[in-house]
Amino acid sequence: MKVMLAKSAGFCYGVKRAVELAHATAEGNNPCYMLGDLIHNTHVVEDLARCGIVKTQCSEMLNVGDTVVIRSHGEHKKVLDGLAAKGVHCVNATCPNVMQIQQRIAQSQQEGRRCIIIGDPGHPEVVGVASFCQDAMILPTSEKVAQWLENDSQNCELPLTLVAQTTCIQEIFENSQKILKKQCTNLKIFDTICNATYKRQTEAAEIASQVGVMVVVGDRKSANTKHLKEICQTLCPVVVQIEQASELDGNLFVGCQVAGLTAGASTPAGIIKEVYATMSEENMIQEESFEELLNQSF
Ligand code: F3S
Repeated sequence: MKVMLAKSAGFCYGVKRAVELAHATAEGNNPCYMLGDLIHNTHVVEDLARCGIVKTQCSEMLNVGDTVVIRSHGEHKKVLDGLAAKGVHCVNATCPNVMQIQQRIAQSQQEGRRCIIIGDPGHPEVVGVASFCQDAMILPTSEKVAQWLENDSQNCELPLTLVAQTTCIQEIFENSQKILKKQCTNLKIFDTICNATYKRQTEAAEIASQVGVMVVVGDRKSANTKHLKEICQTLCPVVVQIEQASELDGNLFVGCQVAGLTAGASTPAGIIKEVYATMSEENMIQEESFEELLNQSF
């Protein structure tokens, strides 16, 4: 069986930066904390804990002089303000792309605009971003956007700013834009889907349309992995999401000539390599893709 491996599989720039920052911070600070999961990958979080980074869910327990690393998804503004007021040393590993949305939202609020975020209302990135303005409207789908406009005709007259969760599916954001553009009179749009997500989703779609089985590797809490799976499901008859190689069922590949493999932005290269090795008996991986994987250090 041939395996097509997505070149974009594995750590994105923001996740790599967060993990490196956490390791560097742990070296000089004892104890060092992370507030929630630094990234959505259990293996990486456990590895960070072994390096001395203590995970806590509660900012209240941190005290003056403590050091805390803020996760790649960002944090609620009230929590950040509370930590600063207390004198806790914050190392901000929020992805710069997420920080840019936080700033755009805060700026829009100052301009008197109502913010609409296309994303998952329960995801920490969205919860954090929304906290940078008052009364943000979080809508997960274009259908919800249409419903929100229908519910109150005055919504169409409001000055609006539209942003997306960084890992939003492109099609959902485009459809939302279309609906709002048709009906709203004062709309500012910022396409805040990050480039890494865009490339990963595009490549996953290309591969999924050519293979009999598509494997998506990533933590079940990871929003971008979930979206990769959803995109692949529209193009490939058999799509599975796994967190590690041991979850692979060999029966899936019976009769399959070509399978595809991609992974979410917080999946370490070591796990992708293991999955690849399990899937493929013959090494048909493209040399340059494999080189890229080997160059990832986590
Ligand atoms: Fe940042 Fe995009 Fe990764 S927002 S954390 S570069 S998926």
